[in-house]
Amino acid sequence: MSCAPGKPCHEGLLRRRALAALGLMALIFVALSAASFTDSRGQVVPAAVSYASFDAVEGKRVFQSYNCMGCHTIVGNGAYLGPDLTKLYGNVGPAWIEAFLPSAGKWPTSGAVRLRLQDAAVAAESGTDSIEAYLEKYPAAAERINRRGAHATLMPNLPLSATEIGHLVAFLKYTSEMNTEGWPPTPKVDGLTFPQATPHPVALQASLAPAATALPAAVPGADSELALGAQLAEDNGCTACHATDTERLVGPGWGGLYGSTTTLADGSTVTADEAYIAQSMLEPDARIVAGFEPGAMPSFADLLEPDQVTAIAAYIRSLGESAP
Ligand code: HEC
Ligand code: HEC
Repeated sequence: MSCAPGKPCHEGLLRRRALAALGLMALIFVALSAASFTDSRGQVVPAAVSYASFDAVEGKRVFQSYNCMGCHTIVGNGAYLGPDLTKLYGNVGPAWIEAFLPSAGKWPTSGAVRLRLQDAAVAAESGTDSIEAYLEKYPAAAERINRRGAHATLMPNLPLSATEIGHLVAFLKYTSEMNTEGWPPTPKVDGLTFPQATPHPVALQASLAPAATALPAAVPGADSELALGAQLAEDNGCTACHATDTERLVGPGWGGLYGSTTTLADGSTVTADEAYIAQSMLEPDARIVAGFEPGAMPSFADLLEPDQVTAIAAYIRSLGESAP
């Protein structure tokens, strides 16, 4: 295209303007591309987050390998069956998550959280080693314990190892520290009360059922000790790992344990009497049941008084006795 002869011609000017605009765009494009390669501009990155000796990047792998996102949302992705996990760490703290994940079939009690605080690394990450201070610092943990502690959850019990749990907590710590600009939003309830805000009906029924009916009163007058033992076993989180029948959970079931012959990991056998059961609580690694790993059960030596140990042992005895 060229200008008609004798007419005023602006073609050169227009072309120069177009080229200048194009040059400016190209410059902006190059500058922004360069900026995208710079560091994360204050946003936290997984490589910078650690939890005790565990790693957030590894935690993401564990999260993916168990397909947690098949049920949970996190940082805006995932499914809606379970609650959003993005900010959970900051709300409930590491000790609560550590108590929940190994036995997710039941909501942790304060005893189970207190037990996790016995671990120096968990206490350091929590910023406290006393359960009272912990529940004050993490009111969402206190709320979960009060509303649901020891009741059944809708989350499946996954076979997570202690290392996998550590990595998962590191990953949840990372997402919790991310600046998500307010995501997930807090639901506005406007004073309405939701039935979902009360314990799950199944859990409620279980809690309403009189706990003592399952316990045969072996000796007259012993009912209150058995009830105390049952209560202590629940409060201390034992029942998260031990079934009251013979089912294997994290540890062996207690049904029929008393008086039975237990085979140990070293091939020897022992009669499960009062002393053996007491030692299992105080020095769990002294004698390991065949088929289990040492270190899986924590020691309760600093948590239980001698008469509490006796009450729990009596309760275990009430769950069925094998003839010697
Ligand atoms: C099959 C679905 C499913 C899978 C898979 C699943 N969860 Fe859950 N999870 C749930 C449900 C449902 C709940 C809520 C339980 C309830 O309300 O009783 C839950 C609750 C939780 C909670 C407590 C949340 C809170 O706000 O109290 C945590 C933590 C959690 N899950 C972590 C995980 C992790 C980590 C994984 C993967 C290793 C995982 N979940 C895999 C369904 C699932
Ligand atoms: C984190 C899971 C966990 C918790 C919590 C736990 N245990 Fe255990 N327990 C285990 C495992 C795993 C074993 C088997 C390995 C061993 O012998 O140490 C076991 C073994 C035992 C045994 C020996 C069982 C047998 O068949 O010989 C007894 C008794 C016992 N635990 C009682 C208790 C009591 C009482 C509590 C609460 C005060 C408790 N446990 C809390 C995991 C746990």
